[in-house]
Amino acid sequence: MIKVWDYLKEYEILRDDILKAVDEVFKKGILIFGPKLEEFEEKFSKYIGANYGIGVGNCTDALYIALRGLKIGHGDEVITVSNTAVPTITAIVNSGASPKFVDIDKYSLIDVSKIEKAISKKTKAIMPVHLFGQSCEMNKIMSLAKKYNLKVIEDCAQAHGATYFNKKVGSIGDVGCFSFYPTKIFGAYGDGGFITTNNKELYEKMHRIRFLGMEKKKMSSGHWNGKYYAVEHGTNSRLDEVHAAILLKKLEHLDNWIERRRMIADRYNKELKDSKIELPVEAPNNKHAYYIYVVAHKERDNIISELAKKDIHLNISYPWPIHIMDAYKHYVEPNCNYLKNTEDQAKKIFSLPMYPTLTDEEQGIVIRELKKLL
Ligand SMILES: Cc1ncc(COP(=O)(O)O)c(C=O)c1O
Repeated sequence: MIKVWDYLKEYEILRDDILKAVDEVFKKGILIFGPKLEEFEEKFSKYIGANYGIGVGNCTDALYIALRGLKIGHGDEVITVSNTAVPTITAIVNSGASPKFVDIDKYSLIDVSKIEKAISKKTKAIMPVHLFGQSCEMNKIMSLAKKYNLKVIEDCAQAHGATYFNKKVGSIGDVGCFSFYPTKIFGAYGDGGFITTNNKELYEKMHRIRFLGMEKKKMSSGHWNGKYYAVEHGTNSRLDEVHAAILLKKLEHLDNWIERRRMIADRYNKELKDSKIELPVEAPNNKHAYYIYVVAHKERDNIISELAKKDIHLNISYPWPIHIMDAYKHYVEPNCNYLKNTEDQAKKIFSLPMYPTLTDEEQGIVIRELKKLL
């Protein structure tokens, strides 16, 4: 069987290191908010190129905490795309704000030429989603943000290590938000998330919000060094010591694994270039990290079911744009016609197996069977 994503071969390679790291945490006796989290926060924010980093429970929380940190909420609008994972929108709605959808370009990323038209008096932020592993056109987004005094929250859930003009995503906007959900480029063995920023004051606020809005306060009796005291309303979202320790081990391999993803993409590009399938394009000045390798064909449902018969498993991210889903369709006018590229793409895209431990032989089988079918 060839899965569209798999972590078991990776686990075989890392097993000894991971079990040792977990054992170290268990023996130390600190399970939450300890030295592994501090080390990971320092190392991962450095890897991204940001001054500050905060480990949280998942990326949905990271996006929500970023919005709260930037004081975005009721009555505000956040510009983003509709071809994203639901949590991008969940976070915006949880903050009290509303999503304002902009169509996408040929790279499946926010079409920056359409952002200005979507800006209203209520707009407070742009949330570009670095979808499938590559960066949105951040220069244009940052200059629009400056012109209209908007904040920029980068949704980097799918793009760890991807660069734009040699800068890693998550180091360009006001805040970067990452997911360590197991399938991601940099995945944990459970849930996890991360927030990056270069702004100290914002860092301190988001740091507080992730832990119930609390800070240590001295008791007047003087008997305690400090007990937790809520200075503002927060939430509870923590990256635990076990996951910080596992991610520290995995961080040592991240760049090699991204290179391996790029090699796999390169082979797909070369060997499928004369087939009738539309292939992904790397945008100018970008280094794509290939979270997934997304292609398009109008017969995609047939292709997926035919290859499944050969035990080759493909996926669709995402078959429905957010703005047509029952939960969120009230954020657009009925029969809205300004998200046409988003709707068209959703009908034909699908993804081929992509993960660093996919073998050359397995990839060869995928390519051969796909070509035979086409
Ligand atoms: C683009 C995008 N944003 C946000 C998220 C949310 O990540 P998490 O599952 O860690 O909350 C995901 C994960 O599916 C995602 O793909």
